[in-house]
Amino acid sequence: MSDTKFHNIAQIIEQRIEQGIYALNTKLPTHRALSEELNTTPATVAKAYKLLADKGRLESFVGRGTYVSRQSELNQVIQAPDDEHEYNFSILQPCLYKNVQPLQHAYQHAAAQLTADLIGYTEHSGHAAHRQAGVEWARHYGLEGGHQENTVLTNGAQHALFLLINTLTKPGDTIAVEELTYPGIMTAANLSGRHVVSLPMDHEGVIPQQLDRIIAEHKVSLAIVVPSHQNPTGVTMPEQRRREIARVIEQRNIWLVEDDIYAFLNPHPIPAISNFIPERAVHISSLSKAISPAMRCGFIKAPASLIHTLNAHIRTYTWLSSPINYVAAAHLINHGEAFRLAEQQRDTALERQAMLRDIFPQVGERFNGYHVWLPLPAHWRADRLVMAAKDRQVIVSSGSYFDVSGDDSSHIRLSLMSVSREDKLQEGLLILKQLIDSDVSSLFPF
Ligand SMILES: Cc1ncc(COP(=O)(O)O)c(C=O)c1O
Repeated sequence: MSDTKFHNIAQIIEQRIEQGIYALNTKLPTHRALSEELNTTPATVAKAYKLLADKGRLESFVGRGTYVSRQSELNQVIQAPDDEHEYNFSILQPCLYKNVQPLQHAYQHAAAQLTADLIGYTEHSGHAAHRQAGVEWARHYGLEGGHQENTVLTNGAQHALFLLINTLTKPGDTIAVEELTYPGIMTAANLSGRHVVSLPMDHEGVIPQQLDRIIAEHKVSLAIVVPSHQNPTGVTMPEQRRREIARVIEQRNIWLVEDDIYAFLNPHPIPAISNFIPERAVHISSLSKAISPAMRCGFIKAPASLIHTLNAHIRTYTWLSSPINYVAAAHLINHGEAFRLAEQQRDTALERQAMLRDIFPQVGERFNGYHVWLPLPAHWRADRLVMAAKDRQVIVSSGSYFDVSGDDSSHIRLSLMSVSREDKLQEGLLILKQLIDSDVSSLFPF
């Protein structure tokens, strides 16, 4: 009997996680408390917790209890489209249909270029011509000082984040991240056994005085920021704020990782924070958002002293980032096509933001990138809205996934780019608007 029982208990707990009753990063009831509630024994609850811990849904800490794990989070935030009837607002990617043909051409070109040199094991840091393409890409959007020798190639920005967390810090170290941030940063830090503390933000991004205080109080060794069109708040740090952040990092002598994956969405280049502290900062860029996430081309510009170690880590994780992708990417960059595609996506984002403002006028002019951090009226909790929207085929991301404390229930993040057609986008936004304006108590009577 107990064999099926602990599976049943695990299923109930998993449902509660899905429904947000047990929110991410929160502590679960003790074995005894849950066993009393579910009319079973503490041993059965312990077995259910163990089963879910093995699946990565829970994490147990000696003396602290069991917590809902963040590790399953990325695929909850970004839900792959599984139904063409869905309105999927959860994926931050370019409007893909516009880039299919250019990519077909770039890969055809790449296929014709392949030589023995390009299809074998290569220098771990990638071919010089491909690194040079990365230098040009990042320079175009505000990064100075990049050259072939201080630039390395990665399989996208997520790989770069994981690599840098593991290169710049040790297990047990503390990393400071924006209080609302891209969950991939949190999962990379958590999976690597690093502590995460949050940096308070205002309408211009991380607050320099708070950064200074948090570094001192928590012995932070690395801070990670997303300075342009921040995910999820949409905030872009103006130049002055970037200079102030750079000053704090330099004075406190810690590392900065600047994940500037959305820099191409700025109407004019803004100097990267890394420009002001080239010896303390590592800059990440990637083609995922402007061209295609499937291309998996990321670029790191780092102080020369780190390059050797970065390459050693890349060799260990992946040996090398596929040169075949980089041949296609370099072709797009060297012919200016990559910049044209990026601009086209930026224009699409602006048109779609205007459409959103017609439906949600309260959002105002704050957002001009791929996504919106939408505040909910007081009668809605984000996790409930996510569920109710899903029933109507509308997929949105709960604010709680982006909150370092796991608490934010007053916002949802909407990507305006993953629904391909404009008419469908409008339809989905109208359904969402109607839902948000409706009386939640009639939808959830108990
Ligand atoms: C801030 C930020 N960094 C990194 C990534 C991952 O990028 P990539 O697909 O290049 O790994 C994302 C994706 O949403 C992101 O928003």
